[in-house]
Amino acid sequence: VRELRYCIIGCGMIVEEGHLPAWQRLTDQATLVGIADRSESRLDVIGGRANLPRAARFNDYRHMLAELKPDFADIALPHHLHQEAVLACCETGTGVLLEKPVAIELAEVQCIAQAVREGGIRFSMIHNYRTIPQHQAALAAVTAGKVGQPQLVCMEAIWSSGWAGAADSCAAGWRAATHQKRVGAINEYAYHNIYLAEAYMMSRIVRVTSKTLRTCDGLAGENIAAIVLEHENGGLTIIQAGYGIAKFARRDEVHGSGGSIGLCFDGQRPAVAYTDDEGRTSEIVVEGADGWGFDGCFAQILAYCGGASEKAPADIEVGLHVSRVIDAAYRSAASHQSVAI
Ligand SMILES: NC(=O)c1ccc[n+]([C@@H]2O[C@H](COP(=O)([O-])OP(=O)(O)OC[C@H]3O[C@@H](n4cnc5c(N)ncnc54)[C@H](O)[C@@H]3O)[C@@H](O)[C@H]2O)c1
Repeated sequence: VRELRYCIIGCGMIVEEGHLPAWQRLTDQATLVGIADRSESRLDVIGGRANLPRAARFNDYRHMLAELKPDFADIALPHHLHQEAVLACCETGTGVLLEKPVAIELAEVQCIAQAVREGGIRFSMIHNYRTIPQHQAALAAVTAGKVGQPQLVCMEAIWSSGWAGAADSCAAGWRAATHQKRVGAINEYAYHNIYLAEAYMMSRIVRVTSKTLRTCDGLAGENIAAIVLEHENGGLTIIQAGYGIAKFARRDEVHGSGGSIGLCFDGQRPAVAYTDDEGRTSEIVVEGADGWGFDGCFAQILAYCGGASEKAPADIEVGLHVSRVIDAAYRSAASHQSVAI
């Protein structure tokens, strides 16, 4: 596999806390050649940590793409800027690694999908929760048949505080300032639960019912979402996701015809526990401690961008499908009806 040259577009909080540390553990496989951010201070933070010369730091990502011609770009901009950046990559034949959600509105996602198909570029969404070690271990157990036929998936992910974004320091930033309505718990947090739900159930989502709540001032959208997903095989997924209530809760469960698996993220109990249909509980071994899942996710993406694997970890059709579920969840919350996919 040849060494890949990549750049980063958007140098905010997730790049500082998640992407860059993961890339720095993969330096033998890929070289960071440039970064772009409209904010000088963010260029200083990420450029300094990555030890990049000034000439490799850009305010305008279009200039960077034209000058450096990287193999792919890691796009970690605010949601409403995803479409423009992906289209710029398609125009220059640059591969794309895109942060979730694909975009805010379904029409933008469809436009991205068309450009990616027509541009023929290498493209993958960053579905990093699949490669969080607890999920990797639990997914391997479920797909190996340990719980029998999965019937019920329950996912709870509620953070006490919101994820503000680096550009505006402690303020809610673009997540509040944006005029679009659909910036909130569904597309910020439940996005991950939706692709995980399909992976655990091994069956597509066909219908969505949701309710949302906004208990924090100064936000554009909802901070709490309760979503019920119906799968093609008759199974159900129940998601509670969001932030901004005085509680930290994160626990996932998969129940099937032959047993249950519970995932814990508090470091206190077994990270992944298996209970068989007679009630006996044992621990499933979890390898590694990659809290964000970016190491595993980026390694898979490098294999794909370098040509060692033909299949993207999460191609644009997968992203489009998750976006349809998200769109249905917003429409369900607004209409008080369940919505078919
Ligand atoms: N996969 C995950 O687990 C995960 C976790 C958090 C965030 N994210 C996603 O990552 C993306 C970024 O989130 P964040 O929390 O890092 O936000 P952030 O606000 O901290 O970072 C965004 C960066 O983009 C820069 N920017 C804004 N407009 C720009 C432009 N026109 N050109 C260049 N740079 C520009 C800002 O200056 C800022 O540094 C979001 O889409 C979010 O959903 C994913």
